[in-house]
Amino acid sequence: MIALNKGASLWLARVAGVCLLVGMVAFVGRRVAADDTPAPWVVPEDAKKVKNPIPPTQETLAAAQDLFTDNCSLCHGEKGIGDGPGAKAIKVKPANFTDAKLMAAETDGALFWKMSEGRGPMPSWKETLTEKERWELVGYIRKLTKDAAK
Ligand code: HEC
Repeated sequence: MIALNKGASLWLARVAGVCLLVGMVAFVGRRVAADDTPAPWVVPEDAKKVKNPIPPTQETLAAAQDLFTDNCSLCHGEKGIGDGPGAKAIKVKPANFTDAKLMAAETDGALFWKMSEGRGPMPSWKETLTEKERWELVGYIRKLTKDAAK
């Protein structure tokens, strides 16, 4: 009788311990997930509407490709998949420019605004790159999306 009680209380203690552990893991897990998932990146309405004043040509695309290789591929990857060597080190993952659905939801103006302002690990480029260079990069990002669909 005593042995059974002992067994039962041991069992109870173990169940309680497991519950506590599961609860803690779930709690910590939620915290980590919340940190990893960035809040929506809201672009001002008027910035979204701005049209790309630099129509892509072979020349602008070639210039932008060099800029992209030098400044962006570290995180975004050479093809824009978001798999550059630097991407491993950052919690918020770089956007995947080859995701056609994701990119269709972004206007040229929104891409320009985001690369100009930056957020978190994504640098702000408005001091480093000229407006012309940033618009050329918008054209180049569009090309990366198209190339991936081929
Ligand atoms: C140090 C890493 C890093 C570098 C270098 C970098 N980016 Fe990013 N980029 C990011 C991250 C991370 C995000 C996602 C930020 C977020 O959602 O908060 C991002 C997001 C973006 C977005 C927004 C995409 C979207 O649809 O929301 C654009 C556009 C962009 N980057 C363009 C560029 C361009 C152009 C360059 C080079 C001139 C560049 N990035 C260089 C890390 C980087």
